[in-house]
Amino acid sequence: MRSLIDILDFTTEEIDAMLKTACDIIENPAKYSEMCKGKKLATLFFEPSTRTRLSFEAAMYELGGNVISVSSADSSSASKGESVADTAKVISCYADIIAMRHPKEGAALVAANNASIPVINAGDGGHCHPTQTLADLLTIYREKGRLNNITVGFCGDLKFGRTVHSLINALSRYTGIKLVLISPEELKVPGYVLKDTIIKNGIPYVETTDLESAMPELDILYMTRVQRERFFNEEDYLRLKDSYILTPEKLNNAKSDMCILHPLPRVNEISVAIDKDPRACYFKQVFNGKIMRMALILKLLKEAQA
Ligand code: CP
Repeated sequence: MRSLIDILDFTTEEIDAMLKTACDIIENPAKYSEMCKGKKLATLFFEPSTRTRLSFEAAMYELGGNVISVSSADSSSASKGESVADTAKVISCYADIIAMRHPKEGAALVAANNASIPVINAGDGGHCHPTQTLADLLTIYREKGRLNNITVGFCGDLKFGRTVHSLINALSRYTGIKLVLISPEELKVPGYVLKDTIIKNGIPYVETTDLESAMPELDILYMTRVQRERFFNEEDYLRLKDSYILTPEKLNNAKSDMCILHPLPRVNEISVAIDKDPRACYFKQVFNGKIMRMALILKLLKEAQA
């Protein structure tokens, strides 16, 4: 049974095909409006979410399907001690596909190994968030017209930011990618991402603490929130939370067609004054997330039926 746990579970050709489907959904939404008639998506969210859960649900409704949902750990039998494996077996009796978010790294893989229906990882702890990556790729593709030959600056919490890890993984398979990793010393990308993805694939990269000096060369600036929920102590979070705040003045040296992304939610990292700048693409990213999740649901259900 095909699932999506890590973005590398899909080949570049498969991702490119999904981007094509997504563009067609945007052009011809009516063509897709009954494609999942009679199918059910279960959204199992054991960690808070606004975009991912609701965009999955909106995606399924726009495909003509239905949704059943667990919106918090407290409202499910996980709070009584039920295992992820048992939950996956149970939900397989009720639904055709699962989208699951869980605070523990590896939980989605455990679910996929026990479910008899496709499982989509909607974020597992600080590990990865492949469907945010699909949203990011569609946004870059629509804004820049390409996924090759781009310099991407990641800024903020690169240690705990699972969207960063997933997008670096995805970009590692395209050509002409350069990475500028901007973070405080304590929040640098984990060693395994650096060694197993960036260095292994020979991707040129620099690590720096200085956003403004990195700005002029960037095609994409990917801002991130400092992930309070992953910190072991509040003191460190408070010290680091405002390390980078993007304001209009800081964009003075940026390219006129640079694209500013953020997986959201935003706390303080991007001033609201930037929202009107044509380079601000983070709300387009939200829309693209729903479209790519439609393409993903279609792909996995089609493969499950084959
Ligand atoms: N980007 C993202 O995962 O947002 P939510 O936490 O609101 O789902």
